[in-house]
Amino acid sequence: MEDHLLEVTENLHLSGRTWLLKLRSPGIEVKPGQFFMVEVSENYDPMGRRAFAVGDVRGEEVLIFYDVVGRGTKLMSCWGKGKKVRAFGPLGKGLFSYEGEKHLLIGGGVGLAGLTLFGKELRRRGKRVLFVYGGRTAEQLAMIDWLREEGFDYILFTEDGSAGRKGVVTEILKDFDPSWVVSACGPKAMLRAVKRTAKETGHRAFLSLEERMACGWGVCLGCVVKTKEGKFVRVCYEGPVFPAEEVVL
Ligand SMILES: Cc1cc2nc3c(=O)[nH]c(=O)nc-3n(C[C@H](O)[C@H](O)[C@H](O)COP(=O)(O)OP(=O)(O)OC[C@H]3O[C@@H](n4cnc5c(N)ncnc54)[C@H](O)[C@@H]3O)c2cc1C
Ligand code: FES
Repeated sequence: MEDHLLEVTENLHLSGRTWLLKLRSPGIEVKPGQFFMVEVSENYDPMGRRAFAVGDVRGEEVLIFYDVVGRGTKLMSCWGKGKKVRAFGPLGKGLFSYEGEKHLLIGGGVGLAGLTLFGKELRRRGKRVLFVYGGRTAEQLAMIDWLREEGFDYILFTEDGSAGRKGVVTEILKDFDPSWVVSACGPKAMLRAVKRTAKETGHRAFLSLEERMACGWGVCLGCVVKTKEGKFVRVCYEGPVFPAEEVVL
């Protein structure tokens, strides 16, 4: 990991509050599940960097899919072509499991960006991959074009029924036998539901957690979560991916 100075090549609004940032990043090697800590302001207002999954690597470009939720991401949405951006990483050691031949990748909203490279690597290894992509409304399924462009099989869910099946992504587990391995990334409420449902249906499940982070490399302890043994692990350093049954959410 190191601090990279990357150049914005494109910054596109997709839909709803989701944007796609493309950064020129020659020669950076990223493993599925890893993330960057991105400097959103040079004058410490707001303070600290923000964590983003590497949504894809295409040629010399790294893609970041981001939701505008606060001041940092609002500033990001104003970046234009040619802007230089500091990004520390790639970070994260605890990554996804490649065991099993059939994989359900469950993404909630922009959380899908945490699963994209994993899906590509599974496919490269000859595994069967099905994405399950959910949001409250169709507008929140802003990464649908990425799924189509990459040619993945997918099932959509929206809570209001405006796209795909009406309901929540966890409903899918009962339709697939437990030989399918589940990996999920998204809002905490969704991850809790995946954990609970996978326990009931007997699926092995892995969760990519997106706790709030200050340093991103194990120093500040701002991102800890409790394990079932009552210990604490750092999401940025020991994670961000954990077997579902090992962490308390
Ligand atoms: C490993 C990791 C990977 C991530 N990948 C992505 C990604 O690919 N795309 C993306 O859009 N976001 C991702 N996030 C979340 C992203 O880091 C936050 O949305 C971002 O830091 C918000 O910055 P802000 O300054 O705009 O918001 P702030 O002003 O800091 O906060 C605005 C609001 O968002 C809430 N918030 C901020 N961070 C989080 C968080 N991590 N979880 C839940 N609520 C939060 C705050 O409580 C507040 O209500 C990731 C987080 C982690 C830890
Ligand atoms: S964010 Fe500082 S220890 Fe994880």
